[in-house]
Amino acid sequence: MSASAKTTSLSPPQIQAQKGATPLVCLTAYTTPMAALIDPHCDVVLVGDSVGMVLHGLPSTLEVTMEMMLMHGRAVRRGVAHALVVVDMPFGSYEQNPAQAFASAARIMAETGAGAVKLEGGTHMADTIAFLVARGIPVMAHIGLTPQAVNTFGGYKVQGRGDRAQAIMADAQAVSEAGAFSVVLEKIPAALATKITAEIAIPTIGIGASVDCDGQILVLDDMLGLFTDFKPKFVKRYAALGEATSHAAAAYASEVRARSFPASEHIFSDEKQK
Ligand code: KIV
Repeated sequence: MSASAKTTSLSPPQIQAQKGATPLVCLTAYTTPMAALIDPHCDVVLVGDSVGMVLHGLPSTLEVTMEMMLMHGRAVRRGVAHALVVVDMPFGSYEQNPAQAFASAARIMAETGAGAVKLEGGTHMADTIAFLVARGIPVMAHIGLTPQAVNTFGGYKVQGRGDRAQAIMADAQAVSEAGAFSVVLEKIPAALATKITAEIAIPTIGIGASVDCDGQILVLDDMLGLFTDFKPKFVKRYAALGEATSHAAAAYASEVRARSFPASEHIFSDEKQK
């Protein structure tokens, strides 16, 4: 089955229409089997550029390439039948001007079968968002702590405290007015996220934001306890798969060394078995 053979049942307008209704459930995924497991429970599956840190061991998202996003985007799309698949635009593929952004976003949409792209930035990306939307590319925006700007921020710090709140509010209004169908609010004070959610027309999707957001997103490997290099305060671990994997590997290693694996039920005889 080709990447585009399955239809994505949820569309960006349907996600947008969820503003103020049942909270949107969003998770990241990077591979076909994980995407298939979470798909029935999600409204949005995001192929985040966090893939670089989570699966490829990169120090930040800045090193993530277009080829990586295309490969993981295709893999996820193959596993999803229900949710909207959104693919992150990698650093350097859209910031220069709207034409550069269109070429990159069109490639992502055409080569992965995703239903939308996500890009980071507020007021300064509004023209680009409007340009993409006018040309048939649904855009999820991402403001607050935008990890691709980690060097400008001087670390993964809370954004929008005190005097900076107004700038984040302006970012939210700008991306909403530019035509984004939703916006991720990352690592901003809860009261600010609640205020933004009440004031803008599109759904807000919180990560380290507020329970009042129109939806929530987490990095799948964080919430499964698979990525354990560090745990941001906003992550809740719903499973301990990292520990389970380590225990399983230890049990396998000890059985291989003791020659108790493979056992008779795992091996083949000369004769065909019934
Ligand atoms: O790359 C990513 O996984 C993200 C989410 C954390 C929102 O952008």
